[in-house]
Amino acid sequence: MQVHGLETPMTDPILLTPGPLTTSATVKQAMLHDWGSRDREFIAINKRVRERLVALAGGEGSHVCVPTQGSGTFAVEAMIGTLVPKAGKLLVLINGAYGRRAAKICDHAGRAHRDLEWAEDKPVEAAKVAAALKADAAITHVFAVHCETTTGILNPIAEVAEVVAAAGRKLLIDAMSAFGAVPLNAREVPFEAVAASSNKCIEGVHGVGFVIVSGAAIAAARGNAHALSLDLHDQWTTMEKTGQWRFTPPIHVIAAFDQALREHAAEGGVAGRHARYRRNCRLLVDGMRALGFETLLPDRLQAPIIVTFLMPADPRFAFEQFYDRLRDKGFVIYPGKLTVADSFRIGCIGAIGETEMRAALTAIAATLADIGVTTGAPAQPRQSA
Ligand SMILES: Cc1ncc(COP(=O)(O)O)c(C=O)c1O
Repeated sequence: MQVHGLETPMTDPILLTPGPLTTSATVKQAMLHDWGSRDREFIAINKRVRERLVALAGGEGSHVCVPTQGSGTFAVEAMIGTLVPKAGKLLVLINGAYGRRAAKICDHAGRAHRDLEWAEDKPVEAAKVAAALKADAAITHVFAVHCETTTGILNPIAEVAEVVAAAGRKLLIDAMSAFGAVPLNAREVPFEAVAASSNKCIEGVHGVGFVIVSGAAIAAARGNAHALSLDLHDQWTTMEKTGQWRFTPPIHVIAAFDQALREHAAEGGVAGRHARYRRNCRLLVDGMRALGFETLLPDRLQAPIIVTFLMPADPRFAFEQFYDRLRDKGFVIYPGKLTVADSFRIGCIGAIGETEMRAALTAIAATLADIGVTTGAPAQPRQSA
């Protein structure tokens, strides 16, 4: 599969990480121009990007897109600070680092929160969310992570959305690593807002976050935000009035994002991207298991985004050395972020396909041979089928 669209051979490493990711040559090329922030052409690009993102979330007529400068965390922080009123309370569902980060955001923004926690290798449970909402009438909003990138686990967002709506509360979703590849449609899954960024499954470059938010919610959010630069209501009002950003826009990132969205549509939208990432994930997991490695998660909980592998038991396996040798062969992987097990991660997303996944597996097998490790088997086998 030729996904790079390169005219010259690729010399950059393949990024098998949760982002920044490998991008296509055409996405990179889209940045080779300069625009003024008030340029008519740039204003049209910005409008198109916002409209396409709303459409991807099935939010036409009900939701709007408010972009933010910065990485994904800026969008999550803007979403929480703008939509949870000062007197509101957020129920934060935590089964990894990004749920924990949302709780920390609440502390910084001075928002009351209650945290509901699960082990990192367990999905959040809608029944426990329903019970927590029943027990605490002060909770106004619920925060959930769609794919918890800490492990790669897919949380049951539709079930959570159902109990949140039934309890008359509002759902805020961090879909950073899932948006554009794991289906999420506002017409089927009721949510007040979802945050994501330019550089994950849409395969743009990094530097823009965005929040798809219900039109009624953003209109009612005036004066909520704890920080001017993270005030989505203010950003939205200005953008609706003038088509322009309040502060210097990341123009090149938006131009690349526009191209990335075009390529996303050409691949068949969310369904097409999901299918490629699933193939990447299947190849990766099967290939790694053939080398003796074990996944943290059983396949039924695994999102086709990033896979956590348990650290091999062989004392000759040192992660830093494994990482460096793989990097020298042209592949960048990612360390683990778990408290439950010693691990490392390999991503399946970005402008990569079967060719890159097979090449990565060949490089991993060669690296194991280099360091004298005959199997990737961990000390404590898990049920990984
Ligand atoms: C689920 C999730 N939320 C939030 C973030 C934070 O995004 P960023 O590192 O771009 O600030 C990430 C990053 O990987 C993520 O995967």
